[in-house]
Amino acid sequence: MDYLDSHCHLNDEAFKDDVDEVIQKALVAGVKRFLVIGYDVESSKKAVEIASRYDGVYAAVGIHPENIPGTAFYVLDEIEALAKSNKVIAIGEIGLDYYWYKDEEHRQKQKEWFVRQIELANRLGLPASIHARECSGDMYQLLKESPIENKAVLHCYSGSKEMLVEFAKLGYYFGFDGPITFKNAIEPKECVKVCPIDRILTETDCPYMAPVPFRGKRNDPSLIPYIADYAAELKGLSKEEFKKAVWDNFDRLFHMKHEQD
Ligand code: NI
Repeated sequence: MDYLDSHCHLNDEAFKDDVDEVIQKALVAGVKRFLVIGYDVESSKKAVEIASRYDGVYAAVGIHPENIPGTAFYVLDEIEALAKSNKVIAIGEIGLDYYWYKDEEHRQKQKEWFVRQIELANRLGLPASIHARECSGDMYQLLKESPIENKAVLHCYSGSKEMLVEFAKLGYYFGFDGPITFKNAIEPKECVKVCPIDRILTETDCPYMAPVPFRGKRNDPSLIPYIADYAAELKGLSKEEFKKAVWDNFDRLFHMKHEQD
C-alpha cells in the first residue's frame, strides 16, 4: 500500500527550483498521491499547472483567509474557472484564522469569504480543504449553518479532541501533520487517537512543519512516512492497515473519479 500527502504546497516559492526532484524523491519513499493546495489566485494556477504535469498529483483551488486583505470577490470567478480543470478535486484552502487576526471586522470578512467559497464548492459538487486556527466555535457553527455538501478535511487539525468528535459527527475529515511527532505536542497526539479511522488523512503542509527528526528544515512529501507511521502507532495499527485506511478515506472524500483521466 502506498502513502499519500493530502495537503502540500509544491506551488510554494520554496520548491520553485526543484519540484521535479521533490516529487521523484517522494515516489521513491512510497508516497504516490499528492494534493497541491492553492491559497490565492496565483498559487491556485500554479497548483493546477503542477498537477497537469504528473500522474497522481491533484490540485485544490481557493483563497486562504490570510490572503483576503486587498482582494475582491470577483477573483472567485477565476477560482471557479480553475476549479473546472480535470485535476482539481477540491476547493481550498479556505476557512478562518483567528490566531493571526484578532479584530472583529476582519473576522467577519473571513466568514463571508468562507461562506462564498462553500457556496462555490457546493455549486461545483466539490469537497473542500479547510484551514481553521483558534476558531473551533465559529467554524463549527458555520459548518452547521452552511454545510459543505461534499464534506471537507479540517487540514492540520489543531482543535481539541472534544471538538474533533463534534466535527466528526457532522461528517468531516481530519488531516494530521509533522506536529504529531513533536515531543511536547500532547493534544495533537490525543486527537489522532480519538479520530475515527475512516476520517483520518496524512499531510505535510510542506514547506512548513517538518516532522521529527527534520524539525525546522524544509518539509516535503517524502517525509510523509515519518508522519503516517507515527500515527499508525498511536492508533495501534500496522503501517499497512493505516495506509489502507488513509487511501480509502482520500478516495471517498475526494471522489477519485478523476483517477482514470
Ligand atoms: Ni496549507
